[in-house]
Amino acid sequence: MEVVILETENDVATWAADRISDLLVQKPDATLGLATGNTPLALYRRLSDRFAKGLVSFKNVKTFNLDEYIGIEEGNHQSYRTYMRKEFFGKVDIPLENTHLPYCSATDNPREVGSAYEHDIETAGGIDLQLFGIGANGHIGFNEPTSSFGSRTRVKTLTKRTISENSRLFSPEEFQPHLAMTMGIATILDSRRVWLMATGQHKAEAVGQAIEGPISSMVPASALQLHESATVIVDRSAASKLKHIDYYNWAVQEKTKLARKFDTFP
Ligand code: GLP
Repeated sequence: MEVVILETENDVATWAADRISDLLVQKPDATLGLATGNTPLALYRRLSDRFAKGLVSFKNVKTFNLDEYIGIEEGNHQSYRTYMRKEFFGKVDIPLENTHLPYCSATDNPREVGSAYEHDIETAGGIDLQLFGIGANGHIGFNEPTSSFGSRTRVKTLTKRTISENSRLFSPEEFQPHLAMTMGIATILDSRRVWLMATGQHKAEAVGQAIEGPISSMVPASALQLHESATVIVDRSAASKLKHIDYYNWAVQEKTKLARKFDTFP
């Protein structure tokens, strides 16, 4: 695992935008696994700015989002489909038919939606790079604590803590879903690279447990310790509970020298 500690939230977004731009030069038809929430917003802004300047294109990119609420329509302003259109898809040249979210309507069978999503990811050739944020309880996507490391795209019931943390995004009279369809942990681990992005002091405890704690389904993000190409990109605040910061910084410096030598997507 590589742990990249940067000064600010903006530096995290720039670091990620630089690498995604590099990846798209090497592989213009890459498949990206995307996330919602506050954390990736600055990254999406940077990528759409670069697109506007003609520096990057998403014309041949395919995307698969981690999760989507159950119980609200795709067009609802609270849906993750709407978030993605507003924050990213609508600002770049990606054809909407190349974008996927695990949407399960009231008449759909969730099991069928889950297996169809897995099938679509496989047909697309798998995910080259999966981004995810982290919930304060260590969740990734909507894989709440106790989620199996063998899980695949399915319905998850959100914890009361997650519902309460996300309630700031819903007005009091608005329906807030308690269920979501989410990629499973095994789905995420199948991606060729995984990136955990976290910013802010409120993420420090979860980041510490995910990186330096035991691998446990009680901290779903700790599953990234099992991945052969996992990178954690954090700002100083989110890194504040890590015990091995000196080593992480030194390792990044050494690896950067090597990457320059071989001119590879680091
Ligand atoms: C939600 C999403 C996660 C996200 C998490 C943290 O529960 N399902 O994918 O990582 O919130 O969100 P934020 O980035 O806003 O802190």
